[in-house]
Amino acid sequence: MCESIPAMILGTGRAVPDKILTNHDLEKIVDTSDQWIKERSGIERRHILEDGKTNSDLASLASQRALEDAGVKPEELDFIIVATITPDYTFPSTAAQIQAKIGAVNAAAFDISAACSGFIYGLSIADSLIKAELANRVLVIGSEMLSRITDWEDRSTCVLFGDGSGAAVLGPAEGNRGILSSYIKSDGKLGNLLIMPGGGATHPATHETVDKRMHYIKMEGREVFKHAVRAMRDAALHALDLAGITSEELDLLIPHQANVRIIDAIASRLKLPDEKVYINIQEYGNTSAASIPLALDEARRTGKLKQGDLCLLVAFGGGFTWGSALIRM
Ligand code: COA
Repeated sequence: MCESIPAMILGTGRAVPDKILTNHDLEKIVDTSDQWIKERSGIERRHILEDGKTNSDLASLASQRALEDAGVKPEELDFIIVATITPDYTFPSTAAQIQAKIGAVNAAAFDISAACSGFIYGLSIADSLIKAELANRVLVIGSEMLSRITDWEDRSTCVLFGDGSGAAVLGPAEGNRGILSSYIKSDGKLGNLLIMPGGGATHPATHETVDKRMHYIKMEGREVFKHAVRAMRDAALHALDLAGITSEELDLLIPHQANVRIIDAIASRLKLPDEKVYINIQEYGNTSAASIPLALDEARRTGKLKQGDLCLLVAFGGGFTWGSALIRM
């Protein structure tokens, strides 16, 4: 039997809004301080999309950059997979909006909802499609406008989130490159710890849901923190085990950027020195599904991640969901 060919990353792109909101700006909105935010999360500023622009506008820009980097034309795409919890609309999908904006006339397009783990879920699906020879070119996007579902009166959450988009084009692997292993998991029993209760079909928008501020992110931060550390650590080790690779062999860990203390805990468990751990949370805050592709593109374009390097992606998010992907770039 022929062995199936995994997917590899052909190109990446990112787009972030120009407008920046610093911790000092937030001090004027809620009872908080630059010092508290930096010490407890590592965040210094976040980018916020201007009114009138949509998630698919920013994601289309990131996608065009990824396609250009990959040398792939929009009409060559077979699938567009968008990981987001802040879609343009409940339906139609944000993926379909992007398909129209970038002219990917031959692609099937759909969204996935796996919160901060969404990009890794997307990579895993793209890898399966390519292995099964159902696709030759897949665009995976993680894109969020979290500022639109942030409660700017709730200091326990509003200091954490930001907006951004990242994208990757995947195709069949060459040589020893490609996705060596991926692992995705979820546990719906814990969904209430991180949720936007309003706006779905359970609590559609009414005056009451708006008055109760149900259309914003609600999070039990301390509980989520504990689960995030454990699940990301386990996912990282699992992807390494599946590929028979040790953490010493890694060139770069790109963890979901939710809290620098979570990242430090995972890096320490994997015994990785600082220079092998990518951190950009200070610039963007937590951008959910966009956080890993933003970091991946930055790392590639700044030369931190080179062809042939071994890179481990790991994430945790609402659902709960978590996952990891080990990639030879
Ligand atoms: N500014 C100042 N004080 C704040 C504050 C803010 N923005 N937000 C909360 N506080 C206060 C709390 O009211 C609390 O005060 P109290 O002790 O008087 O009750 C104190 O700071 C500590 O709050 P706590 O929530 O225990 O802080 P923490 O150390 O757990 O840090 C988070 C809070 C949200 C940064 C942290 O829990 C976290 O990162 N959670 C995980 C987020 C995550 O991983 N999400 C992943 C999926 S997206």
